[in-house]
Amino acid sequence: MRIGIFPSASECATYAAQMLADLVASTPTAVLGVATGSTPEPTYALLRAAHAAGELSFAECEAFALDEYVGIDADHPERYRNVLLRHLVTDDATGLRAENLHTPDGNAEDPHAAALAYDRAIAERGGVDLQILGIGADGHIGFNEPGGALVSRTHVDVLTHQTRLDNARFFDGDITKVPTHCVTQGLATIMSAKKILLIATGDAKRAAVKELCEGGVSAFWPATILQMHEDVTVLVDEAAAADLALADFYRERWEN
Ligand code: PGA
Repeated sequence: MRIGIFPSASECATYAAQMLADLVASTPTAVLGVATGSTPEPTYALLRAAHAAGELSFAECEAFALDEYVGIDADHPERYRNVLLRHLVTDDATGLRAENLHTPDGNAEDPHAAALAYDRAIAERGGVDLQILGIGADGHIGFNEPGGALVSRTHVDVLTHQTRLDNARFFDGDITKVPTHCVTQGLATIMSAKKILLIATGDAKRAAVKELCEGGVSAFWPATILQMHEDVTVLVDEAAAADLALADFYRERWEN
């Protein structure tokens, strides 16, 4: 794990956007793994700005979302497909084409079959080249909540009360409007990405970041499975890094 500790969230975003820009410069047909949530939004804003300046284009890329709600209206603004369209596709935001943005079908008649098909589609494209991740305060990645299988593939799951509470801010602050189920890439699906880039900012993430980097690998903190991946970059701001015992060493290693 490469752990970069930055003074602010915006510096994390600058570094993350540069990693993506470098990837598409060297591999214009890269397969991107894209996350929703607040954390990657500043990175997406920088990517849109770089595209507007003619410095980057995802025109030949494909992108796979991490997860999707089950049973959310197709035109609901918080449906993850719609969120990602707004950030990356609409008005030629980054050059990414709508038909090349893949999201799990949370409204399929059989969401379990749709989850399997989604997993197969990722494998058929040769896997994700660079997976962007946020992390939940409870250590989830995608919607892989504590206590799931560390070797799961894309599957239908139940959202914890905490995650629904966290996400209520996107649903008029009303937890009863937050869907109860999701389709999520499994931990093994995420682990099959060639490179992983996890961003965590803010005080609410400090415990999860501590476990991610320094805890034991455990289904209780799902993100800890990333310790078993050979190419993970973790970008954190000072607030999220506050509990790291080896912060000084990580800074030294990052700089050298
Ligand atoms: P956030 O969510 O980026 O909105 O904090 C991250 C996550 O729940 O994975």
